[in-house]
Amino acid sequence: MTATEPRPAAVTGHGRVVWFTGLSGAGKSTLAGALRDELEARGERVELLDGDAVRENLSKGLGFSREDRDTNVRRIAFVAGLLAKHGVTVLVSAISPYADTRREALQALPNALEVFVDAPLDVVTERDVKGLYVRALRGEIPHFTGVSDPYEAPEQPDLHLRTDRISVREGVDQLLARLGG
Ligand code: PPS
Repeated sequence: MTATEPRPAAVTGHGRVVWFTGLSGAGKSTLAGALRDELEARGERVELLDGDAVRENLSKGLGFSREDRDTNVRRIAFVAGLLAKHGVTVLVSAISPYADTRREALQALPNALEVFVDAPLDVVTERDVKGLYVRALRGEIPHFTGVSDPYEAPEQPDLHLRTDRISVREGVDQLLARLGG
């Protein structure tokens, strides 16, 4: 199966998982939140597993080494699978920087889409929504994705959204179209 083919739902009624990956500040949480609002307004049962919230709860205590990031991603995939099994649409927003680990997570989920939320490093550095890039560039945050730690962009995402070129509304419309309406 290629990355561009929809992954089949193994079980009828299995919820979809939309996995947003990208640099900090690229717009993952914004898009995932807007999509959640839209789907909820249509009466869908939706859960958003957002990087920051996950790290305060499910993954509390984990850092940003490769091992800890991989553990974080695997935990998110595990919970996403449980929710999806019960028909919930699950939106995941996590940098999930390692292609192999992402692939492993997505392949374990029967009905998952990989969405690459993409803005160039100079754009996210300029945005610096949380003030983290300026600190990372000063060397104050070790292993900061895109600055002092790798980000392995998806080669064949199911959807590639350039958030420096499109609005949130356009992104949500593309997501809805990809989800089939
Ligand atoms: S990962 O790689 O998937 O486990 O990361 P994730 O759980 O999505 O957490 C990313 C958020 O943590 C903040 N943060 C860092 N990001 C990257 N590298 C380092 N070293 C780091 N330290 C803290 C940052 O606010 C990320 O939030 P987002 O929402 O992506 O901006």
